[in-house]
Amino acid sequence: MAGKRTFTMIKPDATSAGHTGSILKIIEEAGYKIIAMKKTQLSSSRAGQFYAVHQERPFYNDLCAYMSSGPIVPMILEKENAVEDFRKLIGATDPQKADPGTIRALYAKSIEANAIHGSDSDDNATIEGDFFFSDLEKY
Ligand code: CDP
Ligand code: MG
Repeated sequence: MAGKRTFTMIKPDATSAGHTGSILKIIEEAGYKIIAMKKTQLSSSRAGQFYAVHQERPFYNDLCAYMSSGPIVPMILEKENAVEDFRKLIGATDPQKADPGTIRALYAKSIEANAIHGSDSDDNATIEGDFFFSDLEKY
């Protein structure tokens, strides 16, 4: 399945603002099939595990607090060229720099509360999908 799957999560700012449905619509209209999805909430330490690659960055502690501040909607998605196309669909990390029409341009509140995550490689898509959906053989 290399190249066909990516992992995403709708972040606390966008779920609490009621943007889940609008974001799902954009994702499905872009041709992604939802393979797995749930609504859940991370503890601060689990958010820290998910973003461990950023643990030396100055924004890490704030990011862990923010990512555990409310419900999120993690998903595994499927489409050809899934990872790269999804990064284009969500736009730049900083919503001020995100192209018009991208999910972050439409719904992000700030560089931290930027509405949605998208895996940056096929390997990370698998690792991140497994992080939330350990019963993956079902999908
Ligand atoms: O999510 P993306 O891959 O676009 O960005 P990242 O560089 O991997 O950073 C992960 C997350 O950390 C971002 O999505 C933001 O929520 C947060 N972040 C932040 O709070 N401040 C920054 N200067 C950069 C990232
Ligand atoms: Mg990243």
